[in-house]
Amino acid sequence: MSNMAVDIAGIRMKNPVMTASGTYGFGREYGEYFDLSLLGGIVVKGLTLKPREGNKPPRIAETPAGILNSVGLQNPGVEYFLENELPFLRKHDVAVIANIAGNTEEEYCAMTEKLGASVDGIELNISCPNVKEGGVAFGTRPESVYRITQRVKACCKVPLIVKLSPNVTDIREIALSAEEGGADALSLINTLLGMAIDIRTRRPILSNIVGGLSGPAVKPVAVRMVWQVAQAVKIPIIGMGGITTWEDAVEFILAGADAVSVGTANFGNPFAPVEIAGGLKAYLEANEIGAIGDIKGKVMI
Ligand SMILES: Cc1cc2nc3c(=O)[nH]c(=O)nc-3n(C[C@H](O)[C@H](O)[C@H](O)COP(=O)(O)O)c2cc1C
Repeated sequence: MSNMAVDIAGIRMKNPVMTASGTYGFGREYGEYFDLSLLGGIVVKGLTLKPREGNKPPRIAETPAGILNSVGLQNPGVEYFLENELPFLRKHDVAVIANIAGNTEEEYCAMTEKLGASVDGIELNISCPNVKEGGVAFGTRPESVYRITQRVKACCKVPLIVKLSPNVTDIREIALSAEEGGADALSLINTLLGMAIDIRTRRPILSNIVGGLSGPAVKPVAVRMVWQVAQAVKIPIIGMGGITTWEDAVEFILAGADAVSVGTANFGNPFAPVEIAGGLKAYLEANEIGAIGDIKGKVMI
């Protein structure tokens, strides 16, 4: 029996398959299809201090092998989450990670304090491309990544995961700044900035003009970034970007990921993360690999 369990900076999960923020709501819809306890972890929709309505529609555009979204962090706010959504998630044997986004450092800290130790980990979203203030602005300069990580770490009672933006020149530099600032783990990648135009109306398809690209189209970029970051840092990495099958997950782990998150694939196949976990286990057993960690970073260069 191969061991699928992973420990991401103290967050223990029965398998390395998680769901990516913003593609899984707070788990309720998916819980109608299968037992959420089959997953390693659930990263909830990006939370803000106050409720947000997000951007105006259209907010999603299909692209070849992916989607562009500009949802703009629509969410009910951190307090609503604590009172109304977390109790449901807590009925399951699954790690719960809160993804948080703020306009200021103070907002990030206020949310972290409100969440306290109620969740298993906090994922710092400093990479959202779809909001006017904050978001990606924190995540694209090494100094600001270091600073925000250090501030939030100082008031964080659970492991802190920093989520990196791919919209940078050198992802290693950003990853190192987060590690130096005290991040316990990193997750990458968030979406790649993109744009689509309706040639009949000559208008951008998204009301926000630009949006974030995700899905299979971004996978090679994500694998490359996970590999580069794995060379640079010592902390665990959660890899994501286009993972649709267990083979994709193996690719990320060989590149250096300790765990993986499934995002856009959930929209087409709600069973995707469960199927990926099953496929990973069968792969380990067929190849007589004792533990999932045994193949981490084992790409042969
Ligand atoms: C509709 C949508 C909403 C998203 N919302 C968030 C969010 O609130 N916070 C966040 O950190 N990432 C968000 N993301 C990014 C995903 O978590 C993930 O990093 C990205 O989509 C790449 O993975 P994928 O190709 O498997 O979807 C969102 C992605 C999509 C498609």
